[in-house]
Amino acid sequence: MLRFLDKNFLTDAGKIPCMRTVFWEDNQLKMIDQRILPARFEIVSYSDHKSVAQAIKDMVVRGAPAIGAAAAFGLALAGYESASRSASTSGLLADLQAASATLKASRPTAVNLTWALERVMTLAGKMKDERSAEELRQLILKEAQRIADEDVEINKRMAEHGAALIDEGDTIIHHCNTGALAAVDWGTALGVIHTAHEQGKKIHVLVDETRPRLQGARLTAWELDQYGIPYEIISDNMAGYFLKAGKAQKVLFGADRVAANGDVANKIGTYMLSLAAHDNGVPAYAVVPTSTIDLTLAHGDLIPIEERDPEEVLGIQFQGERVTPVEAEARNIAFDVTPNRLITGIVTENGVVYPPFDVNLKNFVER
Ligand code: MRU
Repeated sequence: MLRFLDKNFLTDAGKIPCMRTVFWEDNQLKMIDQRILPARFEIVSYSDHKSVAQAIKDMVVRGAPAIGAAAAFGLALAGYESASRSASTSGLLADLQAASATLKASRPTAVNLTWALERVMTLAGKMKDERSAEELRQLILKEAQRIADEDVEINKRMAEHGAALIDEGDTIIHHCNTGALAAVDWGTALGVIHTAHEQGKKIHVLVDETRPRLQGARLTAWELDQYGIPYEIISDNMAGYFLKAGKAQKVLFGADRVAANGDVANKIGTYMLSLAAHDNGVPAYAVVPTSTIDLTLAHGDLIPIEERDPEEVLGIQFQGERVTPVEAEARNIAFDVTPNRLITGIVTENGVVYPPFDVNLKNFVER
């Protein structure tokens, strides 16, 4: 089995040096291929922005902060691609605009994607009259790298704030994958769990398998194995049983976008999990960097929700056989919105935000 210990991946072929989920090396964007974990550990390399957009769509890379960083590096690649077409800064800017639109269209729900693209494009726009095209290209790459570096630092701060909410002996239900794989490193909700474990707290994780892409069963379980944190995988529909039976003390998840009133868009199933937690008086926390908070949207109904290929639902196999009739049709809604009344607190890098979210979120974002 593939493992990394002390941040060194240990494969059958030997130790792979410590690495991030998304990183820049040899003038290429490199990413851990999350479609094939845990069966195989492979790094894929990208040299053009269109392939990066496709990789985001196909979920080679996934998780809100990770796709934001990947898109920013995608713009850096677009800058290099543009060099062969135009030597002028205006030509470069036009190519970057087009690349930004392509990358933005790859997945609609995670606001980190738009946030990262806008951050890079705003910088390029500001500097266009002061720098040569070549200097702008370097600047864009540096900004993408800064976004990636900051993400790790922000996750660590968030994890410290979140770990303070975890008590010795807690069993935590966790939804989707929100760990190092979903970010550049460390992670959001799983980062909190990782930090609490490193602080010596004895905790247990119930890992929602997260149908249909199984980010919990495949990726979260794989990460927890690496960190030596005890866990059990449950199918998503078992969470209510554990909550009602008093066998879980906390519910933790990340988010792809949080509206100004604290409504949380996250992986499909988060809403039902939060309802069951609320009904049983179990606190449910969303762990999100402030870049995931979209103050331009007043409430969660305004968040665009991705619907993916039905084949992701229909193609699941059981005992080697496809489970669904050949002619079956399906819906594949990738995210849902949990209303703010079901959320106990929102953990950010600036501290834990409590209701009323419509007042408090703004203060934390501006801090
Ligand atoms: O479809 P995915 O796997 O990209 O969805 C990921 C999630 O829903 C995560 O919970 C979310 O991005 C926040 S964790 C960094």
